[in-house]
Amino acid sequence: MTAGPRLTRRRLLAGGAAAAGAVAAGAVATGAVAACSPGTAAGSEASGGPGTSSPRGPGAAAPVSAAASGGTAVEPFHGAHQAGIATAPQAHAAFVGLDLRPGTGREAIARMMRLLTDDARRLTAGRPALADTEPELAALPARLTVTFGFGPGLFAAAGAERLRPEAVAPLPAFPIDRLERRWNGGDLLLQICADDALTVAHALRMTVKDARSFARVRWIQRGFRRALRVQDPGTTQRNVMGQLDGTVNPKPGTADFDRAVWTGDGPEWLRGGTTLVLRRIRAEMETWDAADRTAKEFTVGRRLDSGAPLTGAREHDEPDFARLTPAGFPVIPEQAHIRRARVTDPGLRIFRRVYNYDEGLSADGRADSGLLFASYQADVARQFLPIQRRLAEADLLNEWTTPIGSAVFAVPPGCAEDGWIGETLLGGRTG
Ligand code: HEM
Repeated sequence: MTAGPRLTRRRLLAGGAAAAGAVAAGAVATGAVAACSPGTAAGSEASGGPGTSSPRGPGAAAPVSAAASGGTAVEPFHGAHQAGIATAPQAHAAFVGLDLRPGTGREAIARMMRLLTDDARRLTAGRPALADTEPELAALPARLTVTFGFGPGLFAAAGAERLRPEAVAPLPAFPIDRLERRWNGGDLLLQICADDALTVAHALRMTVKDARSFARVRWIQRGFRRALRVQDPGTTQRNVMGQLDGTVNPKPGTADFDRAVWTGDGPEWLRGGTTLVLRRIRAEMETWDAADRTAKEFTVGRRLDSGAPLTGAREHDEPDFARLTPAGFPVIPEQAHIRRARVTDPGLRIFRRVYNYDEGLSADGRADSGLLFASYQADVARQFLPIQRRLAEADLLNEWTTPIGSAVFAVPPGCAEDGWIGETLLGGRTG
C-alpha cells in the first residue's frame, strides 16, 4: 500500500462533494492503472486451481477459467430497484449495521451515500473502489451486490423524520424474543452478497472504510447458503436445521413479487424501494437433535426429505389444511409453522431471502447457529407483522428457535448511472 491512495482517500472524505468529484476524476485516471478488468486478476486465482496452469506465466490472465467458475459474473448495479433482493441469492452474505456518529447530519449522510454508491457501483462491476488498496481483490465480483438500508436513526439525523415510514421502527416486543442488544437496530445497513467469501470480505472492507468517518460498526452478521453449483439453479436451499427453506415465496419477475416487495404507495421517495426486517434467529440444535423425525416434520408441516407438505408427495404440492387423520386430527397440525405462517393474498406475502449462520462451537461442542431471517416487503405493518404475531402466539417451531436480534430498514430504490442510492430522500438541497 502506498501513501498516495491513503492521502487521496482522506482528502476525499474531508473535502465534501466538490473535492470528491475532483479526486474521483483523478483516481479514475490513475486508479485505472491498478484497475483490473474482470478476468484480469482472475488469472492468479484460476490458475492456482488444481490441474490448471497459465501458459502466460504466474499471475497472468485466465479469464475463461474465472468465467467458467462464476468469478467474473456480474449483477447489474443500476436500475429501478436495488440489486440483492430479487437477485438469485448468492452463497455468502454479510449484513452490517452501522450507527451514525454524533453530529452527522443530512449533508454528511448524503456525502457518505455518494461515496458508498460509487464503491458499490465499481466493485459490483469487478472494478476496484476508488483508491482500492487491494485492487486485485475486486477483479472477481462473483455476482456481488451491495444493498443499502436506512434505519430509524438515519431519518432523525437527516431531519427527515416525517419521511420515515411509520413501521420502519423497532418491532414490537414478542414473547418469544430473547433479543440481545449486540444484534439489534442500526442507522444504516450494508447488505453485501456474493458467491465468493473473499469478494464479500473485500467489498465489506472497502465500504466500511469509506463509511468510517460518518458511522461506527454496530454489528456484523455473516451468513451462507449452498455454494455455487453444488445444486441445480432454482433448488430450494436447506437451512441448518435440515429443512427445505423457501418453498413458498413470491417469485422474482412476477407481478405478485412486484406487488408484495416493491413499495408502490407511501412516501414518494421510497417508491421502487422496499423494507427489510432482519431477524437473527438461533436454532436450538441440541434439543432439535433430540426430537425425532416425525416431531420435526409435524413442527413445520412438511417432510424433511422432499419438503412436501404432510398431505402431499412433492415439494410444490399445495398443502391440504383441511385433511384429517382417521382419528380426526388435522394431518398438518393446527400449530404447524406453515399453517400459522400462511398468507393467502399474494400481495400480502413477505419475500424471505434467508441465510444460515454458524458461528462455531462452544468448548463443549455446542453449536451457535441459526438463520439470518431477511424478510422484504412493501410494508412491514401490513405484511410482516401479522405473520410474526401469529407465529409468536403459537408455532410449534418456537420450541426450537429463538429470535436474538432484530432490525428494520427502509431500502431505498435503485439509482441511474449518474445517481446515488438515497438521492430520493437526501438529494435536493444537498444537490
Ligand atoms: C429459524 C426460524 C425459522 C425457520 C427454521 C423457518 C423454516 C421454515 C420452513 C422449513 C418453511 C417451509 C418451507 C417454505 O415454504 O419455505 C417455512 C415457511 C414459511 N415461513 Fe418460516 N421459518 C422460520 C421463521 C420464520 C419467521 C420469523 C417468519 C415470518 C415472520 C416465517 C415465515 C414463513 C412463511 C411466510 C412461510 C411460508 C408458509 C406457507 O406455506 O405459506 N418463518 N419456514
